[in-house]
Amino acid sequence: MDAPRSRKNRKAPLGHQRTDADTLSDEAPAQSIETGRVVGRAKGVNQQEIVKTHGLPEPDGTLKKAIIFESILAPLRPGKLLDLGAGKGNFSLSAASLGWQVTAVDVRTVRWPEVDASSHSDMAALMNSITFVQSDVREFSIGRNEYDLICILGLLHHLEVPDQVDLIRKCASTPLLIDTRIASAEIDSFGDYRGMLIREHGETRAERDEVATASWGNETSFRHTEESLTQLLRDCGYPLVFQARPPHRREYTFYFALPRIRSKGFRSDRPAVGSGRGSGLWKHYTPGEAAPPAESTPGQG
Ligand SMILES: C[S@@+](CC[C@H](N)C(=O)[O-])C[C@H]1O[C@@H](n2cnc3c(N)ncnc32)[C@H](O)[C@@H]1O
Repeated sequence: MDAPRSRKNRKAPLGHQRTDADTLSDEAPAQSIETGRVVGRAKGVNQQEIVKTHGLPEPDGTLKKAIIFESILAPLRPGKLLDLGAGKGNFSLSAASLGWQVTAVDVRTVRWPEVDASSHSDMAALMNSITFVQSDVREFSIGRNEYDLICILGLLHHLEVPDQVDLIRKCASTPLLIDTRIASAEIDSFGDYRGMLIREHGETRAERDEVATASWGNETSFRHTEESLTQLLRDCGYPLVFQARPPHRREYTFYFALPRIRSKGFRSDRPAVGSGRGSGLWKHYTPGEAAPPAESTPGQG
């Protein structure tokens, strides 16, 4: 993981980094989030003076999210994929085109794609292969080993910490691909977690519901620093987290998290990485195929 940059080295005004929501204003009191626990705000934080003390390196704008997603999926053996907060279904569609059997969940249906089957029959077939489910992810149940891969793309930073924890815990037997925004400074804390409390778009519930990419119901959400996100994943059953570099947008990148597995070592009689996960996630690393036959190298015994 990249070490957090020091205040001295990086002095980008926060306003430059905020794109889809605002941090709570300085006047806002520490906010109670449903469970009765309190989000603490660092003392003396002035909205105008927040500087980047954490966050990610500069993004590479030429790296498109769709290409990164496909690059990550391409070496994996297709199986069952759950796309949480699927929105207009681009990533579900992309996964389906790579052979995944996709379940796409979103609380809104306004962005679900419509395809004219008469002119785009291939696309329509692909779309029909996806199971679209309208549900709040906080209420959607996920069976243990029901999926081979779970994607949470562009959604985690629209949830509050307790809901983030519940959601990740629900996923915890399954490899997880997250694409999320990262806090550029430690302004707020929630228990051991650090980052920024964000006010979602819209003054009222009705206004917020109209913003197709925003949260559902919750007025605020929590954006973690990378260290905090890694800790959250670890706390929820994902000890191993890979971070994508460079980010594709400012303070926005992918994380691939792997659950703890019980058995150790590489046994040729074990058919799959996890029981109930199809034929194993790793297309290129199935037992028997992984290691090429040993060749003796001259001079090396
Ligand atoms: C920023 S969009 C991301 C869409 C897509 N995954 C992507 O990466 O382009 C966030 C999506 O999450 C959905 N969403 C927000 N809160 C949700 C919740 N509690 N349950 C289900 N979907 C939710 C929104 O409706 C929206 O479609």
